[in-house]
Amino acid sequence: MNETNGTMVEIRGVTKRFGSCTAVDDVSLAIRPGEFITLLGPSGCGKTTLLRLLAGFETPDTGEIFFDHNDVTHLPPYRRNVNQVFQSYALFPHLNVRDNIGFGLRMQRRPGPETEERIREAIQIVSLIGLEDRFPDQLSGGQRQRVALARAIICRPKVLLLDEPLSALDAKLRRAMQLELKRLQRMLGLTFVFVTHDQEEALTMSDRIALMNRGRIEQLGETYELYHKPRTAFAADFLGQANLFQADIVGRNGTTATARLRDGLELTISSAELPSEARSVLLSVRPGKVFISKRKVAAANVFGARIKEEIFQGAMDQLLLVTDMGIPLHALAANESAMEKAFHEGDRVYCGLHLDDIVVVQAES
Ligand SMILES: Nc1ncnc2c1ncn2[C@@H]1O[C@H](COP(=O)(O)OP(=O)(O)O)[C@@H](O)[C@H]1O
Ligand SMILES: [Mg+2]
Repeated sequence: MNETNGTMVEIRGVTKRFGSCTAVDDVSLAIRPGEFITLLGPSGCGKTTLLRLLAGFETPDTGEIFFDHNDVTHLPPYRRNVNQVFQSYALFPHLNVRDNIGFGLRMQRRPGPETEERIREAIQIVSLIGLEDRFPDQLSGGQRQRVALARAIICRPKVLLLDEPLSALDAKLRRAMQLELKRLQRMLGLTFVFVTHDQEEALTMSDRIALMNRGRIEQLGETYELYHKPRTAFAADFLGQANLFQADIVGRNGTTATARLRDGLELTISSAELPSEARSVLLSVRPGKVFISKRKVAAANVFGARIKEEIFQGAMDQLLLVTDMGIPLHALAANESAMEKAFHEGDRVYCGLHLDDIVVVQAES
């Protein structure tokens, strides 16, 4: 493995069409060795197709794919040194846990003792000790998932492709497996290309996220960057909820600028990330950043509002506010006391947007 150049997988201008449908549209992406990268996006955006192109189950119409600087575009799957974990774990029903896990190694006709040792090691890594003799139908969903993982890592592929591997699990187990999978990936230093449509899962697990939309990569970046600095309305909305405002820049004053919303409401925003020629902007504010108070606060961007809807979510309440000028605003409020809620439907409140929490998503001159 050549790590000097820092690229394990390179996708160069890859397009894949099915009839009139362009499933993957001119995608380029460089994946680093040992990184956990996630292809995130809504159903039908091309995630699975891109993964299948990497695995070698599909051939691109145009573009190339390199693994470790070798052109693999036209190599069959078994010559690519990748392994894939599918959504349906695809275990052999007639083989027990040990034999399912060892299947790949046996196919390679490795010497017996080495195979046995590797199987033992893999079983230990995925915490399946004691279940070696069980058959798939005697295992829970999470255990089956771990067998599939062990089977994939035992051949020590350079790259592991995972297509929504946790989607069949219930919420609690899914959460546990997310952490386990991440731990495993770090421990083994493997390169993971992980597919999910679940933004929370992507944010929890990934080093970087490639956000996909209609066959293209909409935005590529570290999780923090994608969440806090979405560059398109799609990105802002897909990665957690966002309050989006279309506005015109109507004034500048040193480090701040004034943005006027369609309805006439004016917001003071930071001009730090605002291009000097920007006139029309798309602004985003996360619901968790909307400040709510029962008393009037003397600060910029504070507006009178009414709570139109309130949804209990355990530790948090999700609120839909409507400002006095009629602008809907999603907000979150912590439920600090179990005895009494802080806010109720119909309450009159003041809401505020701190200027550092107003993100410029798009700017046009
Ligand atoms: N074998 C195929 N034949 C025809 N269309 C396909 C095929 N595979 C995928 N598509 C289409 O390509 C698009 C992307 O699909 P897919 O990669 O499965 O998306 P995702 O995994 O993000 O849900 C979809 O519009 C889908 O209908
Ligand atoms: Mg898919």
